[in-house]
Amino acid sequence: TPVNVFDLVVFGGTGDLARRKILPAMFKRFCAGEMPDGSRLIGVARRAMPAEAYRDMVRAALDEFLKTPIDPEAVEHFLQRIEYVQLDAQGEDGWQSLAEMMLPDRMRAFYFSVGPSLFSDLAARLRLWGLADENSRIVVEKPFGHDLETAKALNAELATHFKECQIYRIDHYLGKETVQNLMAVRFGNMLFEPLWNSQYIDHIQITVAETVGVGGRGAYYQKAGAMRDMMQNHMMQLLCLIAMEPPAKFDPEAVRDEKLKVIRALDPVEPHHIIRGQYTSGEDVASFREDVADARSKTESFIALKCHLSNWRWAGTPFYLRTGKRLKTRSSQITVVFKDAPHSIFGPASGRHNNELTIQLQPDEGIILDVTIKEPGAGGMKLIDVPLDMSFAEALGPKADAADAYERLIMDVIRGNQTLFMRNDEVEAAWAWTDPVIKGWELRGDVPKPYDSFANGPDDSSQLLRRDKREWRGIKR
Ligand code: BG6
Repeated sequence: TPVNVFDLVVFGGTGDLARRKILPAMFKRFCAGEMPDGSRLIGVARRAMPAEAYRDMVRAALDEFLKTPIDPEAVEHFLQRIEYVQLDAQGEDGWQSLAEMMLPDRMRAFYFSVGPSLFSDLAARLRLWGLADENSRIVVEKPFGHDLETAKALNAELATHFKECQIYRIDHYLGKETVQNLMAVRFGNMLFEPLWNSQYIDHIQITVAETVGVGGRGAYYQKAGAMRDMMQNHMMQLLCLIAMEPPAKFDPEAVRDEKLKVIRALDPVEPHHIIRGQYTSGEDVASFREDVADARSKTESFIALKCHLSNWRWAGTPFYLRTGKRLKTRSSQITVVFKDAPHSIFGPASGRHNNELTIQLQPDEGIILDVTIKEPGAGGMKLIDVPLDMSFAEALGPKADAADAYERLIMDVIRGNQTLFMRNDEVEAAWAWTDPVIKGWELRGDVPKPYDSFANGPDDSSQLLRRDKREWRGIKR
């Protein structure tokens, strides 16, 4: 779809997310010719500064955060598209200047790259000052609420100022190339979908492991924990894409309807099916409790859980999900473990063999299918499992250098495509599932298990699978 002239107004334009993600993403889309003449990026923040100083800040952010070498001439052209407005989100200062800057002939997207406590103020003032019209869009970042109640309140508040089709709730995992590949693999191939159910699949594992700690985000994270920070949103989205029914079309409502059905089919998680952990200090790194500056913190930096979907397709197939910080490697992968063949014609001596499909989301994106074959040699019919291993980098060459999630998502906002954004009911359903789990911990005074930094998380997490005679799959590549 061609891109029409637009203005992207970034509230929090001097903030971390803007510098790290939004500005570099827009620069790359500019270089790809997707910022038609006249389009602008207007940074907005509290700080007083001339537009020229903001442009210097943008230049510095591109230098710091773009991984690929950049063309200084392109940067200067891009900077000509940048404006700056000083404004107070919670007061009236600056709004007049922003209003005066608006031009009538274009779509306006307002990116709320600020804390959620400012979302309602911004939405209300955009209306009050007549900045937004029927065609305008707002983009909100996570955390979208702290629980079901706050998420509902926020949805209701935003709905008084904007229609649902104008609200773009970002979950940046949906912008990742490989995450979208989950849909391509499932619904673009005849090979997998007929087997994609509890009759043929023993269980599914989803792991999102990070090596980073909570770093400078201690204050936020102490209140959030892995359940709110990763499970309620990113992990939930991965689960949805793996488990959903085929939507009739790849369009926003069809896809989101199917994802919503998955979330609604989730059983409440049994307390003994959840393992929480907290990293301890390691070589050169502080402990979680030091990072959040609370020696008695009960917040989890790791969570593993087993859940079930009560629907026709998945009854009886458990889903094991785990995510954590300060783990051994940064790696996200989904493993679909198929059942054993119903009968082995080779007898018990050939051992047990089953197929496994691993979708490696990051880093080193790729797909690995473990296939059972005969072990070479004259020693009789022995079986071994070997990987059919496709690394996207090898298979696709330079084409594998996908756009960053934010590039795709911001351009989807500009094109007006909500497929990869969360709908109000979806967010609420996810909180409705998350809330009782967190409330349960609070009631019981649950304390997360300590685990070593740069290892595999608490031992109990392995135990969770071992009880079911299963085990977590390590990184395949
Ligand atoms: C964010 C979380 O949404 O996702 C962070 O708040 C987490 O805690 C990050 O580190 C992970 O994203 P990615 O793209 O690095 O996997």
